[in-house]
Amino acid sequence: MHPNDKLTHYELTQAGDRYFDGLADKFSRSLYQAPRGELRLTMLDYLLPQMLQLSEQKVLDVGGGLGQQAAWFAGRGHAVTMAEPSSDMLTYAQQWHRDEKTLPQEVITYLQAPLQELPLQVPGPWSLITCHAVLEWLGDPQAALAILSRLLAPGGQLSLMVFNRDALRFSNAVKGNLEKALSDRLAGKGKRQRLTPISPVSHNEITQWSVESGLQIVSVAGIRVFQDYLRQPPATPAENETLLALEKQYCRQDPHWRLGRYLLYTLIKPETPE
Ligand SMILES: C[S@@+](CC[C@H](N)C(=O)[O-])C[C@H]1O[C@@H](n2cnc3c(N)ncnc32)[C@H](O)[C@@H]1O
Repeated sequence: MHPNDKLTHYELTQAGDRYFDGLADKFSRSLYQAPRGELRLTMLDYLLPQMLQLSEQKVLDVGGGLGQQAAWFAGRGHAVTMAEPSSDMLTYAQQWHRDEKTLPQEVITYLQAPLQELPLQVPGPWSLITCHAVLEWLGDPQAALAILSRLLAPGGQLSLMVFNRDALRFSNAVKGNLEKALSDRLAGKGKRQRLTPISPVSHNEITQWSVESGLQIVSVAGIRVFQDYLRQPPATPAENETLLALEKQYCRQDPHWRLGRYLLYTLIKPETPE
């Protein structure tokens, strides 16, 4: 346990969302300074150019966290509006972007705001929106998808990544938490510095919610399909490369993508509603 765990009491917002105030360091340490964060970024770097039509268009990054995705788009010539409700996360992102000397920071606009306020603050409509690993931290992820749809321009693309409830069940079983898996008590409570999401999402839910929000799923992939289930983590750079090749080979293939720790979707808003 981190020394601060016992001292700080974290709350959900009135809407039941978990802003990451007080979590920036832990999130950075346990994800992005660890092999799983590295693999996530490598897979996104591999998949996003395949799954999105990118033409240096403006992008709205919703719940941008520590700013990795904003930096990725800025580095590829996009002007980015990074919205994030947690001042801790936003400050961390800005500082990190400033330290990255090669990053064209002038193209990034920072906005401290939750997703629910974006239709008022930055209505767009946007031709490209990213919302990665945010829905699972919200009290009402379905309503959030409807808001993202409102922000999209007709023909616009949404890159959505969610924490996969089915993979969480599987990994609990693999770790021996059989009762938890059987009773489906999978969600975290959002208390203290725990990073188990409060609203893990299933593919069936995304399929249904996207129809109800007037969005079409055009592609899907699993992120970290194998890594979490390995009995032995890769011990050498060569083994790491082999794992990466395996992840790349099967991330869009049935049935493997379905157990990715995260599911990555491209959704579009049709030009004419159906
Ligand atoms: C797991 S982090 C993901 C950050 C980043 N998108 C990434 O992929 O690394 C979840 C983020 O969602 C933010 N968040 C929580 N509630 C939100 C809300 N209502 N609107 C927008 N972002 C929210 C948190 O503050 C946190 O930065």
